[in-house]
Amino acid sequence: MPPLTRVRSEQPGDIPGALMAEYYTQRASEGGLIITEAASVAIGGRAYYGAPGFYADAQVEGWKRIVDAVHAKGGKIMGQLWHGGRVAHLDLTEGQTPVAPLCVKRDRSCMWVKKDRSCKTARICEENE
Ligand SMILES: Cc1cc2nc3c(=O)[nH]c(=O)nc-3n(C[C@H](O)[C@H](O)[C@H](O)COP(=O)(O)O)c2cc1C
Repeated sequence: MPPLTRVRSEQPGDIPGALMAEYYTQRASEGGLIITEAASVAIGGRAYYGAPGFYADAQVEGWKRIVDAVHAKGGKIMGQLWHGGRVAHLDLTEGQTPVAPLCVKRDRSCMWVKKDRSCKTARICEENE
């Protein structure tokens, strides 16, 4: 199964919960490979409200429950990690300016945020980050 963002993580906290576990368990099969939906690697990289994370202990615990359930059905699962870069949004990053390799403001709207959808100008990483 290819990665499919479903924005069904538990809020607040971007935690893979019971609904996500049910979704992946339903799709697991003997020998089948599931690539998970993209999971944020940092708060500063959040681009979709509701997408799961992979940067906090509670998130890792949630993913473990999903992995165990898929393995119990004989399936295989691989996590997809992402960082929204300049599409990350201040509404989701707890005020952190998104970091990106490209610091040109995106002129299209950022998606899946609740308020102001305009993207902000990102900044490049410092050497010590
Ligand atoms: C609702 C939806 C969510 C998706 N989420 C992701 C994602 O999280 N990560 C990713 O790499 N691709 C994502 N994709 C792309 C799909 O994995 C896939 O590459 C795309 O649908 C084309 O596959 P197809 O030619 O079999 O339709 C998503 C696609 C859809 C329709």
